[in-house]
Amino acid sequence: MNAFLDVKNISARYAGERILEDINFTLNRGEFVAVLGSSGCGKSTLQNILAGILPAEEGQVFVEGTEVRGLNPRFSYMPQDDLLMPWRTVLDNVCLYSAIHGGRPAMREQARQRLRDFGLAGCERAYPGELSGGMRQRAAFLRTSLCPADILLLDEPFAALDVITRWDMQDWLKNMRQTLSRTAVLVTHDVDEALYLCDRILILSGRPARIRREIPIEDTVRDRDWLLGQGERKREIIGLLRGNG
Ligand SMILES: Nc1ncnc2c1ncn2[C@@H]1O[C@H](COP(=O)(O)OP(=O)(O)OP(=O)(O)O)[C@@H](O)[C@H]1O
Ligand SMILES: [Mg+2]
Repeated sequence: MNAFLDVKNISARYAGERILEDINFTLNRGEFVAVLGSSGCGKSTLQNILAGILPAEEGQVFVEGTEVRGLNPRFSYMPQDDLLMPWRTVLDNVCLYSAIHGGRPAMREQARQRLRDFGLAGCERAYPGELSGGMRQRAAFLRTSLCPADILLLDEPFAALDVITRWDMQDWLKNMRQTLSRTAVLVTHDVDEALYLCDRILILSGRPARIRREIPIEDTVRDRDWLLGQGERKREIIGLLRGNG
């Protein structure tokens, strides 16, 4: 049986320098995978390739056995740079995909509901320039979660948030996994976030970067207390990120 998402032999180059080499992984429908790697190793480059913004030098991406190339409706991307449109209100920004994909009134209502969950109640008429960095990030995340595409590409979605808000957003995503019913590729520098939210962790490293290790997280019950007991795994992951092991 085909994997839901199949990334095959992806490589990428900028200005003559190989950044990514021979990136291979698959995801089943509904799985969340984390991509961890040091700054500058090529995580956002990989997300840009999956999103179809950047062509790969080599390799292919398949969704349900069909090759996808360029911008396509299977992926919903939250880039590292939030890309909110400064001339649109918060509500219009978070409903951007509904404007593109149709279903406008229903999604605006859903967006209004979720603005509350995301701590953005009362901000619907504000413009991005009036929000804090964390609020912008939550608005961008809300926009991504409202997009009907079935694979979420999340590039450090919670990096700009204070620790309490980050925990709240992580809990929201974890609790909503069933309801959202999406597959996700989550780039993060937060090892706890990767362990808490994802079914597998890919460690990228080297120049050009390759997938150095794939770590399955199979524990069925994963709550904050469980996370406190993951010291051994965290040590292993941090060692790999440092290039040991
Ligand atoms: N548009 C570009 N032109 C040339 N080089 C680029 C471009 N974008 C990224 N790079 C280079 O490619 C490498 C990988 O960048 P990328 O943004 O993918 O890293 P990253 O793993 O996402 O880092 P971070 O964790 O800091 O976000 C870096 O060395 C970067 O300088
Ligand atoms: Mg990046």
